Amino acid sequence: MQYIDKALIKKYNKAGPRYTSYPPANYFTESFTPEDYLQMLEASNHKGPGNISLYVHIPFCPQICYFCGCNTNLTGSREQLRSYMEALKKEIRLVARHLDRSRPVTQIHWGGGTPNALPFHFIEEVMEVIHQHFTLATEPEVAMECSPAYLKLNDLIRLSRMGFNRMSLGIQDANNNLLDKLNRKPPLYPLEDLYRTAKKAGFRGVNFDFVYGLPGQTHQDHMQSIDKALQIQPERIVTFSYAHVPWFKAHQKKLEAYHLPDANEKLNMLEAAFQKITSGGYVPIGMDHYAKPDDELARALENKSLQRNFQGYVTREKTGQVYAFGATGISQLHEGYSQNTRSPETYQEAINQQRLPVFRGYRLNQAEKIRRKVLQEIMCNHYLDFLTIANDFQISPREVRQTVQYDPANLSEFIDEGLVRADENKVEVTSKGFFLIRNIAMQFDPLMSNAHNSYSKTI
Ligand SMILES: C[S@@+](CC[C@H](N)C(=O)[O-])C[C@H]1O[C@@H](n2cnc3c(N)ncnc32)[C@H](O)[C@@H]1O
Ligand code: SF4
Repeated sequence: MQYIDKALIKKYNKAGPRYTSYPPANYFTESFTPEDYLQMLEASNHKGPGNISLYVHIPFCPQICYFCGCNTNLTGSREQLRSYMEALKKEIRLVARHLDRSRPVTQIHWGGGTPNALPFHFIEEVMEVIHQHFTLATEPEVAMECSPAYLKLNDLIRLSRMGFNRMSLGIQDANNNLLDKLNRKPPLYPLEDLYRTAKKAGFRGVNFDFVYGLPGQTHQDHMQSIDKALQIQPERIVTFSYAHVPWFKAHQKKLEAYHLPDANEKLNMLEAAFQKITSGGYVPIGMDHYAKPDDELARALENKSLQRNFQGYVTREKTGQVYAFGATGISQLHEGYSQNTRSPETYQEAINQQRLPVFRGYRLNQAEKIRRKVLQEIMCNHYLDFLTIANDFQISPREVRQTVQYDPANLSEFIDEGLVRADENKVEVTSKGFFLIRNIAMQFDPLMSNAHNSYSKTI
C-alpha cells in the first residue's frame, strides 16, 4: 500500500484547517457569553453523546521550552498555584450543578502545561472534587500529559492510585544536546524504566510523543528517537510536525539561530519515520498517531468508529461531550463550543465572582452540526456513508449531500489521482490519500470557498 507520494503531497501542501473542531476555532466569536454557555450546558443533558469527557488544563511549566506552542506559563509561587487550583475546583462545582448526575464520565484528561510537575496533593484534591460531583463509568480512561523531565518512578504509582491509567510522555527527541538547545531538561529517568514502571503500576497505555522538524534537529536525531521508541514498544507513538509561529509564541524566535528544517526535509523525516514505525508493526491512525494493531484505536479505525476531540483520538464508546476546566480550556458540546479566558488571572477573577470564565465560543446551527459530523468521518475514518449520517440526523441522504455541497465532480482530480473513490452514496479515501486528508476534507466544507487563510500547511 502506498501512503506517501511525495510529488502529490508537495502539490497539495497548502494551508488548511485541522478540523479538530468544526467550524475551526478562528470562527469562535467573543459575542458568545457565559449565558450562552450556560444554555449549552443545560441542553447537553438532553443530546448525544450522553457520556461525559472532562478536560483539566494546567497552564504552568517549571521551565518554558523555546519550541513550545502550547498554552502555558512559567510556574509562579506556591500561593499562585494554590489559588489557580482552588479556582479549578470551584469551576468544576459551578459547571457540575447544571449537569445530569446520571451521565457517566468515560474520559478524564489532564493537559497543559505540565500537570505532572504540580505538587501531587493538588491533583488529588481536584480528582476528589470530580468524584464528589460526577459518576464515573466502570472503566473510564484517565489520562495525563506528562513531561519526563519531572516524572519520578514513584509518581507513576501515585498517579495510578489516583485512577490514572493512560499517559502521554512528551519525549520530543531522544538527543539530550538538542533538548538543551531547546531549553528543555532531559528525562529524569531512562524511558524504558518509566515505561516499565508505568505498566507495572497499572497504566493500560502509554503514548510516546515526538516532534519532527524542530530547529537544530537532524534527520538522524529523529530517526534515533523513533528507534528508541521501537525498542521500548509503547502502545502508541505520536509524531507532531513542528509548528513555528514566532508571531504568536515569541520565545520561538530564540531558536532561529539554528537550522530550521524546510518542508522537504520535514517530508523526508515524516516518510522515514512512517516507514520505520509501520514496519515495526504499528498501524497509522490519522496523520500523526500510530497504535499497536490490538490497541482500541486501531480496532476503532478498522470498524470505522474512530472519533477525535481536542485531546486526541478516541473510540466511539469512550466519546463524550467535553467539559473543559481551567484557563484556555475549550468545551466541545452537542450545541457548540465554549472557550475559557486565556490568562490564569482573569480566569480566577471570573470564577471567584461565581461567573463562568467564558472568553469566546460558537453555537452551531443544524447544517453546521451535519457538516461537523461529515468532516469528522472523513478526517478520522477516511470513509463516508451518506445514509448513515442521514439516519443519525433523521433526514434524507440527499439533504446531507446538499448541506455539504457534495458533488462527486468536485473530487474528480482526487479520483483521477487515485486518492479517493466516490459515488453518489459513499466516499472512501485510499491509502494514497492518507496524508492529503485535510485537502480532501476541505472539499466538504463550504466555509473553505470564502476562507480567510490563516491556517497551517497541511503537512
Ligand atoms: C501540551 S504539550 C504537554 C506535554 C508536556 N508539557 C511536555 O512537554 O512533555 C503536548 C505536546 O505538544 C507538542 N508540541 C509542543 N509545542 C509544539 C510545536 N510548536 N509544534 C508541534 N508540536 C508541539 C509536544 O510534543 C508536546 O509533548
Ligand atoms: S513543551 Fe511541555 S514542558 Fe515545554 S513549555 Fe510546552 S508545555 Fe511546558
